[in-house]
Amino acid sequence: MAIDLSITVNGMKFDNPFVLGSGPPGTNGKVIARSYDLGWGGMVCKTMSLDASKVINTAPRYAKLRARSADEVIGFENIELISDRPFEDWIDDLTQLKKQYPNKILIASIMEECRKEAWQEITRAVQATGVDGFELNLSCPHGMPERKMGMAVGENPDLISEVVGWVKEVATVPVWAKMTPNVGNPVVPAHAALSAGADGIAMINTILSVIGIDMKTLRPMPTVEGHSVPGGYSGQAVRPIALRQVMEVARAHPGVEISGIGGIETGHDAAQFMLLGASTVQVCTGAMLRGYEIITELKADLEKFMVDHKFGHLREFIGKSLPYFTTHHDLGERQRLAREAKEQARATSKGARALDAQTWQGDIAAESSKLVTN
Ligand SMILES: Cc1cc2nc3c(=O)[nH]c(=O)nc-3n(C[C@H](O)[C@H](O)[C@H](O)COP(=O)(O)O)c2cc1C
Repeated sequence: MAIDLSITVNGMKFDNPFVLGSGPPGTNGKVIARSYDLGWGGMVCKTMSLDASKVINTAPRYAKLRARSADEVIGFENIELISDRPFEDWIDDLTQLKKQYPNKILIASIMEECRKEAWQEITRAVQATGVDGFELNLSCPHGMPERKMGMAVGENPDLISEVVGWVKEVATVPVWAKMTPNVGNPVVPAHAALSAGADGIAMINTILSVIGIDMKTLRPMPTVEGHSVPGGYSGQAVRPIALRQVMEVARAHPGVEISGIGGIETGHDAAQFMLLGASTVQVCTGAMLRGYEIITELKADLEKFMVDHKFGHLREFIGKSLPYFTTHHDLGERQRLAREAKEQARATSKGARALDAQTWQGDIAAESSKLVTN
């Protein structure tokens, strides 16, 4: 059976749905080129801004949560900011990449101060490099909100509408809005973005967290000069939260293009996001922990899933599990009806068995009387 992993989303044709998510895996042109060579379907590069001199990163800026009984990393926290590389370097890298890899999808993640001129300036400048699309980072949960950027915008539907509207006024390529999971109802910000013209939704960014305390020093981690800040949680542990948020937005906006993100490390993880409505998936922490080479395994796993279920193309199963979500009240009703139906069936079969037994006893009696007569 021929399996086709390619998919066209908002006019962008991806060889396969596996996209490297914004972060360390897409930190410069050289590593992005390597990811294309290894077979990734697309790349959302590390978020850039016009003035990188305002971005001051710390060391350390990562911390890991390990499983109790093994060494496996199940959760990951970072306090990394957006890219601290000069904007001009990014412009050179993006221009070069589009020349070298015209058929590979390159999405620029951008973030700016909450001013129309700034957002429109960065959109115009980056667009001139030939990128295929934009992802608006409205969701970084640490550091940037102190400058009224990132999640400070993404948690406020009015600001989301404004920023998306400004970008859409000048963008000639598709625009995805990357949402924060640090809100009660993810449908509200997604709705604001789509109403303002966003072509798709990328979700989720990291979850605000405190990964733990160093039990020797009693200082929170990651510890920078003895101190810390809450950071962004990612990796396997966030997947159930991301799946739920994707599901909610997909159900509220049927057919909308969603790029599913959060703890994806296998082809089966990816398939689950797609079953809940995502048309592409992004991998960040998984690639940091296991290397860009996991793309081979991701594609093979997804293909196997498709063969097992006889799906030839991704669109055949995107959103397929969505109809099976309902209200808790409805679950109770379904359970009551199923029990009643079972009891009814049991009663019917008991009646039938009693009838069978009667007939059988009748037959025996008739046979016995025949024997006596004979
Ligand atoms: C170290 C690190 C840096 C990140 N930097 C960015 C960023 O610059 N822009 C952005 O939109 N998301 C950033 N993210 C968030 C990821 O793109 C992704 O949304 C999140 O980590 C969840 O996916 P994952 O579990 O596959 O990592 C970063 C994540 C990590 C772990």
